[in-house]
Amino acid sequence: MNETALYDAIFKRKSIRDYDQTPIDSNRLEEISRNLQSLKPLLADIKTEFKIISPNQVTRKINNNAPHYIAAFSEAKDAYKINMGFMLQQMDLYFSTTGLGSCWLGIPQPTKEVKESSNLEFIALMSFGNPKETLHRTSASEFHRKPLSDITNIEGANDLLEAARLAPSAVNLQNWYFTGNKNTIHAYSSKAGFLRSMVGGGHFPVNMGIALYHLKLATEHFGMKNKFIFDPSKDKSPPKNLEYVATLEIEQTS
Ligand SMILES: Cc1cc2nc3c(=O)[nH]c(=O)nc-3n(C[C@H](O)[C@H](O)[C@H](O)COP(=O)(O)O)c2cc1C
Repeated sequence: MNETALYDAIFKRKSIRDYDQTPIDSNRLEEISRNLQSLKPLLADIKTEFKIISPNQVTRKINNNAPHYIAAFSEAKDAYKINMGFMLQQMDLYFSTTGLGSCWLGIPQPTKEVKESSNLEFIALMSFGNPKETLHRTSASEFHRKPLSDITNIEGANDLLEAARLAPSAVNLQNWYFTGNKNTIHAYSSKAGFLRSMVGGGHFPVNMGIALYHLKLATEHFGMKNKFIFDPSKDKSPPKNLEYVATLEIEQTS
């Protein structure tokens, strides 16, 4: 996958829910399968599995009827849902660069047979196919997102944080907050209370992984080296009522 194209897709992608029902040709499906095998993990020691399934293997499809779906499974280990958000967002951006539409799906579910076909835990679906609606946004103003000032108190890293700001999230909850400085960005998540966990909050960690992937692409776009670490004690003034997720250490090369 071309990371420059993936970065550009951050600023124009959108969730596609209206698809041409014609299946994608087999060569293209093979390329998609190959890409699924080469996704970069955030945490290398977590086993993951991706299956391309058909519409008759998906239940609870509400306003989404695509010719193909990816079912994502993971070993249940620390931060596994964050890792899955980080990985599968690579496909969401990739589809957008190749003229295909896609949408993360937390409500639709694969059939029991599909779930039982993996030893790993089912995490989420992603629909994909040829779009029957406009594929791309033309400006950042078309994204329904919180302003940067609501998601960070960092000054001097707007170019990086803008990429995270535009990330998709379940029910568009945008549960991220960033502290630190332009060299060390700490990522936090809202906590999902009982009610919130019933509506979208269960996907908070997946959303965080998506935003972290956008952040990583942005640092690379600006030619910066980056490394994720997981150490809450690194942040000397953590925000109250938020959960620590990860720290991105950035080396400014220019
Ligand atoms: C983990 C996750 C689960 C989602 N689940 C659904 C879903 O079940 N149905 C749906 O129509 N959209 C779903 N979405 C898409 C979000 O509603 C969408 O990303 C958000 O509203 C922002 O819009 P955008 O993606 O067009 O920028 C999900 C997104 C994420 C990240």
